[in-house]
Amino acid sequence: MVKNMKRKVTKAIFPVAGLGTRFLPATKSIPKEIMTLVDRPLIQYAIDEARAAGIKEFIFVTSRGKSALEDYFDHAPVIEAELKRKGKKDLLQILKATDMESGAIAYIRQQRALGLGHAVWCARRLVGDEPFAVLLPDDVIAAEKPCLQQMVEAHAETGGNIVAAMEVPHDKASAYGVLDIREDMGSLVSVKGMVEKPKASEAPSNLAVIGRYILTPQVMEHLHRKKPGAGGEIQLTDAIAEEIRRSNNVFGFRFRGQRFDCGSKAGFLQATVAFGLARDDLRDEFEQFLFGMTAMRKAAE
Ligand code: G1P
Repeated sequence: MVKNMKRKVTKAIFPVAGLGTRFLPATKSIPKEIMTLVDRPLIQYAIDEARAAGIKEFIFVTSRGKSALEDYFDHAPVIEAELKRKGKKDLLQILKATDMESGAIAYIRQQRALGLGHAVWCARRLVGDEPFAVLLPDDVIAAEKPCLQQMVEAHAETGGNIVAAMEVPHDKASAYGVLDIREDMGSLVSVKGMVEKPKASEAPSNLAVIGRYILTPQVMEHLHRKKPGAGGEIQLTDAIAEEIRRSNNVFGFRFRGQRFDCGSKAGFLQATVAFGLARDDLRDEFEQFLFGMTAMRKAAE
């Protein structure tokens, strides 16, 4: 069996170098990861999920123009002093929940946009010879038990590599990395292949990879070859597929939860509605508003 098989996962990579052009003009001046879902930036959801899974070191792969992201994770002394002065304990508490331990976050620059695989590879020295998690903050997952925590628990049983997976409509599979299933065991799926954005006619299944991964250092080694794949980019999927060919220790994991594609406008709006309705302080007013809107639209038809 492969070394490092059951080492604890304490490091996570957050690829956040993308330009976020789908959200122009907003992303002219703010990184996509700072865009807010209800009242928290997208990145906070991914960080909270990672923390819940026991992650201690957070590696951001950034690019030019992402300084707002670094500032977000800094202390905010002026706001804090003002809140203290006014005795606003609730708001101070909200701020405190975003505090990160000193030295827990590292920022690495991806100098050129060569793909997700390349972004992950940029973090190789910080990851070292350990299993690591990758979280794509565009994929926001609402779940009773956070998705990465479910995966870390599964990983403690299986070792190896685990990728989050979910069934998508057949005609949507070509927007994802898609799994070729060897054996379907329910929530765990043993995998015999993985393809990035296959043509609809060539997709091996409709089980798509969602942006949560637990990977072995061997996958990082495969990334080292930096071979371009789908779209001319260096793909993480290809390095995982290489690991399947070599060692057969890759699993798909059907997580329990609802995934929102916050990389698309429709997905972002859906997430906003779902997370808004999940909030005790907003639900009643928001629900009433949504009912009213729907009724108005029906009446106008
Ligand atoms: C990336 C991965 C893809 C995965 C998807 C999940 O694609 O390359 O394998 O299915 O995230 O969101 P992207 O959406 O960045 O094109």
